[in-house]
Amino acid sequence: MVAARITVNGKETPISPAAPHTTVLDFLRERGLTGTKEGCAEGECGACSVLVARPGVHRPTDWVAVNACLVPVAALDGQEVVTSEGLATADASGTPAVLHPVQEEMAVRGGSQCGYCTPGFICSMASEYYRPDRCAHAGPADGSGDSDGSDGSDGSDGSEHGPNGFDLHALSGNLCRCTGYRPIRDAAFAVGMPAEDDPLARRREQSAPPPVATRYTQDDSAFLRPGSLADAVRLLRERPEAVVVAGSTDWGVEVNIRSRRAGCVVAVDRLPELRTLHTGSDHIEIGAAQTLTEIERRLDGAVPLLAELFPQFASRLIRNSATLGGNLGTGSPIGDSPPVLLALEATLVLADADGEREVPLSDYFTGYRQSVRRPGELIRAVRVPLPLSPVTAFHKIAKRRFDDISSVAVAFALDIEDGTVRKARIGLGGVAATPVRALATEAALEGRPWTAQTAEAAARVLRTEGTPMDDHRASAGYRSAMLGQSLLKLYARTTEAVSS
Ligand code: FES
Ligand code: FES
Repeated sequence: MVAARITVNGKETPISPAAPHTTVLDFLRERGLTGTKEGCAEGECGACSVLVARPGVHRPTDWVAVNACLVPVAALDGQEVVTSEGLATADASGTPAVLHPVQEEMAVRGGSQCGYCTPGFICSMASEYYRPDRCAHAGPADGSGDSDGSDGSDGSDGSEHGPNGFDLHALSGNLCRCTGYRPIRDAAFAVGMPAEDDPLARRREQSAPPPVATRYTQDDSAFLRPGSLADAVRLLRERPEAVVVAGSTDWGVEVNIRSRRAGCVVAVDRLPELRTLHTGSDHIEIGAAQTLTEIERRLDGAVPLLAELFPQFASRLIRNSATLGGNLGTGSPIGDSPPVLLALEATLVLADADGEREVPLSDYFTGYRQSVRRPGELIRAVRVPLPLSPVTAFHKIAKRRFDDISSVAVAFALDIEDGTVRKARIGLGGVAATPVRALATEAALEGRPWTAQTAEAAARVLRTEGTPMDDHRASAGYRSAMLGQSLLKLYARTTEAVSS
């Protein structure tokens, strides 16, 4: 097996002697690439953002921004990374001499003061700069004249896209404590399109580096990347104590903040069998290792309830790595995806060395962070049955609008025919030890006319669902109240649509 190595700014670098738990951030900084900063070490500030070449959604390769503080460097064996230092064009001596267009706009528009957050912003911006379908939202190719926000296309109308097609949500995982966001937004909305000879734009036309089967060990710990599902489930049968990671957005926090270490980490995020996404006659199958960004872009609104979920699910930086398999695998009662998937009546395909079985998500969770998933079993895919219910909504109540943990979350999927609720499915998060279906409320809605009286009566039932607790995020009373309000809000929205 070839020694583990990573290509950083075009230069191949051996990963050894880094420990298997060493993050990309620490690896880069120990090698002098100190533009990549540590702000929080838990995926919340974006100071550590770097670009990784990944299989593209619309082109062979996408430049994807990820949190370097969360990803073990061994997970990028054989992969290509670009840091803020690698974006500028170097002179003959290798010294950065000409700023990248994103760096140039940040500099001339005053997007940087102390500069601590700036390299991270630059990498997140560069990822959006190179997004192949950005031009679909764009105005003038050079973005000129529109960056003062006076044309109404700066997000003030509810759109998050600038006149150059730049989606501000690309920066939702980057925090700045001193500049203020206006100059940063101005810079983002001023960048043009990549030039023909831009090396990173051209790199998108060639295939991304394929995954590499990795067996990286130091002392008593190992990072292992099996090459196939069969190898993975065999390995997990031999090592049932192994920590399974996909995007490492959860495990990376455990390593950094709680100093947890594992003797064996098994990466499943590039297993081809977990990377499916196809629509059949009676269901959509989403591979458990598709990242949330990939699902969002590949489904492109085909499942409206998922489309409503994604912008509220952490930041773009996190969604670029996080997976549905990971969100369900951790079993958190406040994960964002379970309420939505419960309302969609999703099933999980679980795989182990003996084969596969399909389990309804409503039967999956058995207790706080516990499930029917057996040791050695992997979530291979999530299946969403078709047809979809036409009336859907996802309400996440949190202290911040984006990039926060929910206090309570509610997802609705209703079939309303001729003014009567034929079917109701409601998923709840944050009101019990596990995500739950609101079965009593569903029964209170089904077969009844979709009227204000029905909605108010069902909202009273919904307020009694689950066993919410008082904690530092919200009181039990607030959580219950928000459940009822969510249903009234849905009713108001649907009847507004009918009357308009
Ligand atoms: Fe804050 Fe990585 S250091 S997100
Ligand atoms: Fe100081 Fe952003 S420029 S934190």
